[in-house]
Amino acid sequence: MNEDIPQLPNYDESSLNAAFATLAAEVRGETVDGMDAEAFRLRWLGRKQGRLKLISDAWLKSAPAEARKPLGIRFNQLKQRIETALAEAEAAPAARAVKAGIDITLPGTVRAPGIEHPLLKTMNQIVEVFHHLGYSTALGPQVESDFYNFEALNFPPNHPARDTQDTLVLADQQSKPSRDRLLMRTHTSPVQIRSMIAQAPPIRIVVPGKVHRNDAADATHSPIFHQVEGLCVDTDITFSDLKGTLDHAMKELFGPAVKTRFFPSFFPFTEPSADVQVSCIFCAGKGCRKCKNSGWIELLGCGMVDPAVFAAVDEQRVALGKPAAYDTTKISGFAFGMGVERIAMILHGVSEIGQFYSGDMRFLEQFA
Ligand code: PHE
Repeated sequence: MNEDIPQLPNYDESSLNAAFATLAAEVRGETVDGMDAEAFRLRWLGRKQGRLKLISDAWLKSAPAEARKPLGIRFNQLKQRIETALAEAEAAPAARAVKAGIDITLPGTVRAPGIEHPLLKTMNQIVEVFHHLGYSTALGPQVESDFYNFEALNFPPNHPARDTQDTLVLADQQSKPSRDRLLMRTHTSPVQIRSMIAQAPPIRIVVPGKVHRNDAADATHSPIFHQVEGLCVDTDITFSDLKGTLDHAMKELFGPAVKTRFFPSFFPFTEPSADVQVSCIFCAGKGCRKCKNSGWIELLGCGMVDPAVFAAVDEQRVALGKPAAYDTTKISGFAFGMGVERIAMILHGVSEIGQFYSGDMRFLEQFA
């Protein structure tokens, strides 16, 4: 490597300047090339075979006495240049990688870009439909008090309506008054109450979130699942606003061909209440296995906000020093709630709810 020791025929000032300028250019050229810093150090500063040592030996040997000092000064300058270049090369990321034993020429590990989980994607899709209608998002806690989850929603203590929502309660709450006892929220409806206590009408909110029920897991049930709740309160809100809103939302989600129909139902916090069915998206309403030959799929619950709910809200507002704001002679509203898993299963033809929670990449990759 160091066989080509340059000749120095003359020791006069300009020959020395030219010879050292050539060497300096050589040093610069090599470091610019991004040579391995250690190889560069050995090549120039190696104690026995280093280029600096060989050249200075060769040039000093035949130098006349008066040339020794200018030669020595220039070799020192050259050495400094080499050391600076070396320090720079060692600080470069590529050099650090080589030192750490990393081969930066190997292809890297290619990570697939992340995607939204199918459940979150569906939840966001639903929320977006309502954002386009002017609704905003409201959120609430998953650990909720009996007051928000039940009492204010017109489920009195010990009322049989509570049996429809198998509730997971927190331990050691018996010493508290029943309305303050904590539980895992069984639906997103308590956020209706929280929002109305916080804010006077008009209200248009959607509430995406996780809910918990003491249900045995099977193909279509999971003790933890997701809902999107909606609440609209304003002057002159009627059942036809509810029907039009939900019919529009279902068409946005499932396509313009779906039809909706409303069946009488019961929820303590809405009156009247309805279950909404959409025409089966698999058979276009003709009847198939998915819709159990009925041509319809039941999708969500809804209704006009029960006056008892407005009364509970105002009572709490007043207790907190806020003005009552939900006078049922002036305002009315509707609410609805839908299961995200159920809608995602229908949209994507998923038959086992557990697949959403399994973390199995073969399942999840299909949504990339
Ligand atoms: N909270 C109800 C449930 O989980 C659904 C619902 C929401 C019904 C809003 C009517 C109005 O079953």
